[in-house]
Amino acid sequence: MTGLAQRHKKLERNVTLLALGAFVTVAIGGIVEIAPLFWIDNTIEKVEGMRPYTPLEQAGRDIYIREGCYACHSQMIRPFRDEAERYGHYSLAAESMFDHPFQWGSKRTGPDLARVGGRYSDEWHVQHLKDPQSVVPETVMPKYGFLAETNLDIGDPEARLRALRRVGVPYTDRDLKMAIADITAQADPDADAGDLETRYPKAQIRDFDGDPGRVTEMDALVAYLQMLGTLVDVNAAAAQEELVQETGR
Ligand code: HEC
Repeated sequence: MTGLAQRHKKLERNVTLLALGAFVTVAIGGIVEIAPLFWIDNTIEKVEGMRPYTPLEQAGRDIYIREGCYACHSQMIRPFRDEAERYGHYSLAAESMFDHPFQWGSKRTGPDLARVGGRYSDEWHVQHLKDPQSVVPETVMPKYGFLAETNLDIGDPEARLRALRRVGVPYTDRDLKMAIADITAQADPDADAGDLETRYPKAQIRDFDGDPGRVTEMDALVAYLQMLGTLVDVNAAAAQEELVQETGR
């Protein structure tokens, strides 16, 4: 018997040695997969147009989560033909890069909302949220009329943005400082919007709930819904993503 075969025989007969050998072999595979993740900053391809949410949109997002809208709605269009035809271009990873927590999923009692922004008027959303059955008689969606009666009260918006910054959302110091002013500025067309639109491109600035006198939870939620899927030019971004995959750059 050659020396190699003899050593192999020894390895096969000694269970501890065999287990150790198997562990080392598997560990090499694991390290090759995991180690690069420690050296790259981001696993998501950046795409043009994606920006952190404005404080008003973020407040609307918090209400969306508080009210459990995710129990019936996903925000992830899968790359299947039927989904793309119904909802629009499939979702790109970068489109939810500032979502904490993300709203992916495939369990849908109602439709996917990833690209609902701009599909309906603000009036439609307000009416639909107040009384969904008045718009779609057979819908099982609950009524959320109280949102229009509740003033938006988010305690310390600056602290919320700071918390998001800690987990990687690139809010600037100025964004934090302006958080409270930005909320009023976005929901009140008469207020001075300052540099809101420079810091948050494509921010929609208007009264959303039909009650210009005050900022309600309805304002925040509709502002959030109207923003969904409108920030990124998906066709250009998807072409870019494919190019990166093909050329490996
Ligand atoms: C019990 C399940 C359920 C919950 C909870 C729910 N919805 Fe819906 N939603 C539906 C169903 C079903 C539809 C489709 C029929 C319709 O338009 O009402 C729908 C439709 C919608 C639409 C129209 C989408 C489109 O493309 O036509 C929007 C916007 C929407 N919901 C927002 C919300 C928001 C915001 C919340 C939380 C405040 C919410 N929904 C909570 C079931 C639900």
